[in-house]
Parts: sequence; C-alpha cells; structure tokens
Amino acid sequence: MAGTREPRTETDAQFIAFRVNGRVVSVSSSPLQRLSRVLRDELGLTGTKVGCDAGDCGACTVLLDGDPVCACLVATGQVEGCEVTTVEGLADASVGARLQQAFLTHGAAQCGACTPGMLVAATALLERNVSPDENQVMDAIGGVLCRCTGYRKIIAAILDVGMREAGSDGAETISSAAGEAVGRRLIRLDGKQKVDGSEIFGADETPANAMAVRAIRSPYPRARFHFGDLAAFVRDHPGIEAVFTAKDVPGKNCYGVISKFADQPVFAEGEARHRGEAIAAVVGDAVAVEALEAADFPVSWEELPPLRDIDSALATGARLIHENRPGNILVRGRVVRGDVDKALDAADVVVDAEYETGFIEHAYIEPEAGFARRVCDRIEIQACTQSPYMDRSDIAAILGIAPERVRIIPTAVGGGFGSKLDLSVQPFLAVAAWHLGIPVRMVYSRTESIVSTTKRHPARMRLRGGCSKGGRLLALDFAADFNTGAYSSWGPTVSARVPVHASGPYYVPHYRALTRAVHTNLVPAGAFRGFGVPQAAIAQEQLYDELADRVGMDRLEFRILNSLDDHTPTVTGQVLGEGVGIRACLEALRTKWKAARREAAEFNLKRTGALRRGVGVAGMWYGCGNTSLPNPSTVRIGLKRDGRIALHQGAVDIGQGSNTIVTQICADAVGAPIASFDLLSGDTAITPDCGKTSASRQTLVTGKAAQMAGEKLRRAILKLAGACDCASIHFGGGDSEVIVRDGDGSHVLALGGLPLDEHGYVITSEATFDPPTSPLDENGQGVPYAVFGFGAHMAEIEVDTELGTVRVLKVTAAHDVGRAINPTLIEGQIEGGVAQGLGMALMEEFFPGKGENLHDYLIPSAGDIPPVESILIEDPSPIGPFGAKGIGEQAVIPTAPAILNALHDAIGIRLRKIPATPDRVRAAILAAQKEKVAACG
Ligand code: FES
Ligand code: FES
Repeated sequence: MAGTREPRTETDAQFIAFRVNGRVVSVSSSPLQRLSRVLRDELGLTGTKVGCDAGDCGACTVLLDGDPVCACLVATGQVEGCEVTTVEGLADASVGARLQQAFLTHGAAQCGACTPGMLVAATALLERNVSPDENQVMDAIGGVLCRCTGYRKIIAAILDVGMREAGSDGAETISSAAGEAVGRRLIRLDGKQKVDGSEIFGADETPANAMAVRAIRSPYPRARFHFGDLAAFVRDHPGIEAVFTAKDVPGKNCYGVISKFADQPVFAEGEARHRGEAIAAVVGDAVAVEALEAADFPVSWEELPPLRDIDSALATGARLIHENRPGNILVRGRVVRGDVDKALDAADVVVDAEYETGFIEHAYIEPEAGFARRVCDRIEIQACTQSPYMDRSDIAAILGIAPERVRIIPTAVGGGFGSKLDLSVQPFLAVAAWHLGIPVRMVYSRTESIVSTTKRHPARMRLRGGCSKGGRLLALDFAADFNTGAYSSWGPTVSARVPVHASGPYYVPHYRALTRAVHTNLVPAGAFRGFGVPQAAIAQEQLYDELADRVGMDRLEFRILNSLDDHTPTVTGQVLGEGVGIRACLEALRTKWKAARREAAEFNLKRTGALRRGVGVAGMWYGCGNTSLPNPSTVRIGLKRDGRIALHQGAVDIGQGSNTIVTQICADAVGAPIASFDLLSGDTAITPDCGKTSASRQTLVTGKAAQMAGEKLRRAILKLAGACDCASIHFGGGDSEVIVRDGDGSHVLALGGLPLDEHGYVITSEATFDPPTSPLDENGQGVPYAVFGFGAHMAEIEVDTELGTVRVLKVTAAHDVGRAINPTLIEGQIEGGVAQGLGMALMEEFFPGKGENLHDYLIPSAGDIPPVESILIEDPSPIGPFGAKGIGEQAVIPTAPAILNALHDAIGIRLRKIPATPDRVRAAILAAQKEKVAACG
C-alpha cells in the first residue's frame, strides 16, 4: 500500500433548481454533471439506472418536461427550471401506476435493471397515445435495452394498459390458497421493488464516507510492466488515499471458480496476460479517483507478442501462458461410446462439417458494483453476485482469513447469465477495505465490464455424422476447441459438459466427442447460459438437417425418429427411465411446422422481390446442475411465534424468479399460503448454502431442498399438535397460533408461549438435497446429471437476399419443464432465451480490443424480437420438486440453430462462421451465385 492524503472537493459547483417528481429541488452541482449522477448521488433517486453512461442502453431514461431522455446524456445545467420525472414518481400518475401493475401481472420485469427505463419510456408513449399499436410500443421502447425478457412481456404489458379504460388498474389479483401455489401464475414476490424503483442493485447503496476504488488495467493483451514511485503518486495527487498492488494481497493472490484450476490473480505480477487485467487499484475520494488520467499512473509497459487465437496457442513451440499447462491446453473433455469409426464406415450417408463461433458478451444491463467494509476482524461485501458462498471462499483465501470471517451480502443482480459467477469488484474491495478500515465502493464502467469480465467461449467445431437410408442416426464424431482466454474460469466445465451434450437429445449408438479448452492472451471465457452447449447445438443441429436432407426425410420427422426416450441410453450410457420429454416437444411442433413450411413455400413461389422465407427446427437437452459433481443446496425454514414462516434460501435470484418459485414449492410442501412466508435470501450470514445460481439448478436443487424442508416442517407441526398425517394446517399469518384440523377436530397451537430454538424459531426445519450423479469413467460413461430438461424451437424467418439481412418472423418454443411451477416466469425465461439465441445467430460477436461498449456491441432490441409462442410440456421428473426441471439455460440453446437451419431453408446457404451478419450472408449469397455461374459455364 502506498501513502495517504486529505480528500479533495469539487470547486465548480453551483445551485441548480428544478422539479423532480413534482417536488422543487435545488442541487449544488457542476452544470456539466450528468443528470443521472445528480439524481442518484445527490437526490438519492437510485431507481434511475446507469448501464453505459453513453446513451446506448436507455436504463437511465427519465422524462424531461414529459419527453423521454437519457439522463446520462443530459447536463444538469440544462434542466434548470424543468420538470423531471423518474421511476419513483410514476406511481403518482394514473398511467405510471397502471404500467407498474401491468409489468407485475405480465412478468415483464425479470432482473429489473431495465425496468425503470422501460416504464418511463412507456409512460411517455401512453401519455401521448392512450391506445398504441405494437409497432408504436416497439418504437417507444426501442432505445431501452433489456437482456432478460426478450421484450415480449414488456410489450404485452404496455399494450394491455393501452387497451384498458383509464382508471382500470389492468391487473388481476393473483394470490394462492394453501397448497395451491405450484402451477399458478403468481406475481414474482420481489416484483414490487423492481417496478417502483426501490430495488437495491450493486451500485445503489453507498456507505457514509466510502472511498472509491478504481482498477488500473493492462491496455495490452500481453505486457510486462514496472511500477514507478507509487508513494510519490499518492503524495502528489490530492484526494488519492492509497494504491494497492499484488504485494498488498494479505493471503493468496489467486482465485478461481473451480479451486483445482484457480489461476487468476487479484493483481497481475510482472506480466499481464490479457487486455483489461488489473495490475493495481487506486483508492480515494470519488471525484479524485474519477478524474485520474490513466496516463498519470506510474507504470511503464513493455508490450509483448500475444497468442490471440487457438491455432497460435496450439502451435508447436508456442510460448506457454501458464507454465504448468503444456501445449496451452487447460483441460480436455471426452465421451466415447461404441465404435464410431466402424459405424461411420458402414453408414449409408455421412456428412462432414465445420463451424466456428466467436466471443459473446453477456451485456447485462447492470455493470458490476458493490461496496465492502471491515468490521473488526471480519469483512463484509455487498455486491451483485450469482454465487455468494463461492465468493466467500475465494475472498477468505485472498485475505488469508477463515471463511466465517467473510460475509457476502448479494444485492439484486441486474442480469448475470453466468458472468457474475466469477469475482469482479469483490477482491479489490476486500483488499482495500481490509487495509484501510474504511468502507470502499467500486462501480465498473460499461467498458471496464466488457474488457475485464468473462465471455461465452469462441468455439471451433468439426463433426462427422452418419445415418442409415431410413434416417436412423448411427454415429457422430465431434471435436471442438474452445478459446478459454488467459485464465481458467469455467473452461473446465465447458470442456466437460459439451461432450456429454453434443449428440443432442437423440439416440446416437456410436459416439466420440473430444474437447479442449485452450489458453490465449484474450479476456477469460467463462460461463454464459448453457456452458458451451449452445455452440455445440449450432453444429450438431445443422449437421442433422444435412443428414435428413441427404436421405430425403422431413427434418422434423428425422429428429422425432431419433429422439431419446425413457429407455434409450444417452451417449454416457445413462438411461433416464422417466421424464424424457424431447419427443413430446418435437411432436408439439408438427402441425405448426407443416403449416409454416407450406406458407414459406407459397411465399417463395411468389418471388416477392429479394425476399425469401425459410423455416428451421432444432432440438435441445441440458443436464441440470454440475456435471458429475456434488452441488447440494440446503434450505432452512422456521415457524415463528407470530405464525409466519421464515424461508432461508440462499439461491440468488438474478431475475429468473427463484425467490418466487422456491417459495411456491415450499408453500405447497408445508401446506401454507404463500402469503405466510417471509423470505430471506442469499446473505451468507443468514442463509445456508444453496450453491450458485447457474446450470439451471435452482428450481431443481434448491426447490427440492425447499420441498423437503417444507414437508419436514409440516410433519413437525402435526406431531406437536398430536394430529395425523392427513390433517390440514391453518396458519394464522400473524395471529400467533396455528390451527391443525383432522378427524378429531381442531388443535390450536398457541405459538406465543412456546420456547424458541437456537435459530430463534418455534420449530426449525432444514433439508439438504444433492442430485444423485456418478463420476464419469475414462470414456465419459456414467450418470453426469440426475435430471435433463428438453426442448425444441421452430424459427420462421425472412431473408433479404440483396441486403443479406435476416428478419425472424416467429419462434415457436416447446419445452419439457417437468412441472411448470410458475408458467409466467417460465415463459419469461423462454422468451429471454430466444432473444439471446437470436442475438447469437444473427448479430453478436465480441472482438477483444474493439467495440467495448453497447454502441458497437449490438444486442437485440425490442424491434428485433418476433412473437414467441411457448408450449410447455410437463413430463415430470421423478427427482425434481413436484416433477420440475430447469429452464434457464435450456431456453437459449435451440434458437440459434433453428434460425440457421431456417436460413439454409430460405436461401440454401449454410454459414460456417457464426453469427450470420448481413455482410457474411450477402458474401455467401454472392459466392454461391458465382459458383453457380462457374458450374454452368
Ligand atoms: S446509462 Fe444512459 S443510456 Fe445507458
Ligand atoms: S429485466 Fe430487462 S434487463 Fe433484466
């Protein structure tokens, strides 16, 4: 740690008066300060979110004299004498209040980070046009990005308000009686704070006297560096309190989500391995830290030649990025079954293919943020995270203290999709707060978030598949290399999961899938919805279309013929026995498939200018939870003296709805109305470990633990009342009593007088569930997952052959979810998955060092997303709670291959490099035309 100084103050401030939400305010601010900053920092109106500070995301949308504007682009001096309306002021107006309610009813808020901006933009529309049509709604919210919902429920909510008479609240009253929560479209329990602006995300709380932390990062993909005089730097920069580097890390300067592969330093030592890697952290008062010019920081860089791609990293004699990883290979994955070479030799038809995908940025609307404070010999970190207990372990190791001395308090998470499983701000906050003993806060800029956090793995896949003349799949030979970047992150998981899934949900008797995660000097690739399976599905589902075409079979029927059933073994030899719903998903599409194919053919016959239509289908399966590894969840519930039930569940709700779904499951297991529950979530000091929110495991694993704990509590109450198992329990919900009714009449349990246990409850019930799996042998044979989710998507698209643009007209998504605990939330996951899959297919590719913002890195906006029809299949899992399976990862997997298959259906072109951007599509069309001409003549 280097030096200390007195804080600095801002000198160019002046008083600026305006009205906010009907109230006159006067702030002391620079007139050039962003309005978003003043609203949040000076006026405490943190409902206005900041996702980019550049006018790209729309999260900061407010009304300025009734017009929607990006508050991050408005200078505070411009609003002198004006009226500003933020999300906190919407409830005061009829339209705003009805919109908030409609967002809840429709499930239009998931993580909630975009919700304030959406509500404000929609209010502006409805104030001018009481009954807009869908296009007008899409135009109105076109500048506000949402990464979770796929926009359809947002559009529906706005249209719903527009269709109702003013004065009607547009909402149904949704509640559930005891034992009737599962299967109901309950409004999410944490929804209200998402629509009224009171939700606390990572950047929304700042402890008094907190100092700001800013990381100094490598501008080069690989560089040696030497610090100058850090003490002099602190001394010469008023407001800067300290600088921390690797030597200030009290414990291990190393962390990683999989401890066996942990390799990422808090601060690089001597050499940075990727652009954006932190080498130091500067701490001081917020103004001084923000004003700091990177060039002023005393460090000299020596740029070194980087390994940028898989080929150069694998080349013989390539420099090793980590000395202990020969060949720059982090890890390999392998699943082999049968004799694939022999089967391919014997197959009637064999197809070879190669596909390549790029980095994909998570682009959640909330950049990483949080704060930390040291409390005596403990550290507390409040930040956005998907994995509080994993964070706790890593922070403990970094500080060299016991995990029990670390408390992780997750904030609301403004989208995660896998990237917030890894540490981001937490290590810097921990080191700074530990040394300084004062609270510290860190908020990533959008660019910092994009530059330094994990991405979806780029994949290069080669595959060869064979089938019989009758269309029976016989063999698949799959090999893939994943560019895992400079550090391991979730590379081992991707390498292990992909070989298990690369067959797709089909019976493939002879199979070989080999994978490698390869280190390069690029940003680490990690977890992103599907852990590599979406990339594999792009390859395998297109290959199956080619096989179907070669044997002259309908592409959907080919899949139905080959689909797994309860009794056919998977490629790891697992026979699931029950709950294999892929055939039902595919069959649910049959009628629509025929109709869509017919309509597309009719359209194309008319030769409507340059437009061509196509229809594509793809199947999916996805194992819920860790691959062949333990991943238990523990849930604790307690009956309180007032008759209410405390539910301690540590699953972090990142927008997918686990707070609501786990409570629905628990409520029915206890036999209590959902209104009786008080939810305590995520905080490592008050909730047991429910593992990470990833791999579609929370509904299955935490849900099952909640079901078991609920049933146990029910039995304990009945025992206390001396009642039989068939008795019904009536919870007072605040009346300090529980009434148990059975054949003998009523037993009243007066809770007020009963003793409390060690947890402070009259009765505590705790249960742990760990899905039964087995280790895989050297050929990847075994039981990797206890439960799989299944699905199939059909995409209808239109291609402009002159422009190379692709418009998706509709996606029909059939998913076997086992039991739809909350259909609205499940549909929300499906629609959000479709939107991300569409982005993956058509527009999203991140190039490290370029376009590190939401202006150049394009994600789908409202106008890009077609209607999505969700079909929920309920083939119950014998293991899942009430039969439920996961849906979060599943939803994204089949969309991209379905769109790419539709592209081929429309214009006969199969792109080998994804995404199918207009330039690539157009180039492929021109190349095909050239080839045709050459062949003719
Ligand atoms: S924060 Fe203003 S547009 Fe993104
Ligand atoms: S709900 Fe829109 S970004 Fe999460």
